[in-house]
Amino acid sequence: MSAVEGRAVRQDGQRRERRIRETGRSRGIDIGAFEEFEDRAMRSVDIGGMEIGVCRWGDEIFVFRPTCPHEGAPLCSGFLQKRLSATLVDEEPTLEVGEDSPVVLCPWHRWEFDLRSGEAAWPGFKMRTYRATVEDGRVLVTMGRK
Ligand code: FES
Repeated sequence: MSAVEGRAVRQDGQRRERRIRETGRSRGIDIGAFEEFEDRAMRSVDIGGMEIGVCRWGDEIFVFRPTCPHEGAPLCSGFLQKRLSATLVDEEPTLEVGEDSPVVLCPWHRWEFDLRSGEAAWPGFKMRTYRATVEDGRVLVTMGRK
């Protein structure tokens, strides 16, 4: 990071802190208006030099570390879809579509991660997720563990 970039990051952080003081919001980092996030799409957002992944799914918003825990692929370049799960009912395979369960598919090896929990379909791996809320139309992110 150059000195100019470092100064820009500090200024962004100072602006954010001032906005939090002025609005009285002490919980979370304001990453933008909810309406600015396209529905059923994900993108990365820079917050003071740290990149986070953001996905809007209907009325909900999900925030996560955008690096795959397997081998480091950029998850925001992956694919977003509804969770599909197959079960056997009376020995007949049944496919269930989870309308409220978005998953991201890693662009490199297609592992699936549940955006709600961060759990991978492959046991032992988990994507880092962060708490996000919407207050007065603004998306606020808390960086601690969910
Ligand atoms: S890098 Fe994501 S599944 Fe391999």
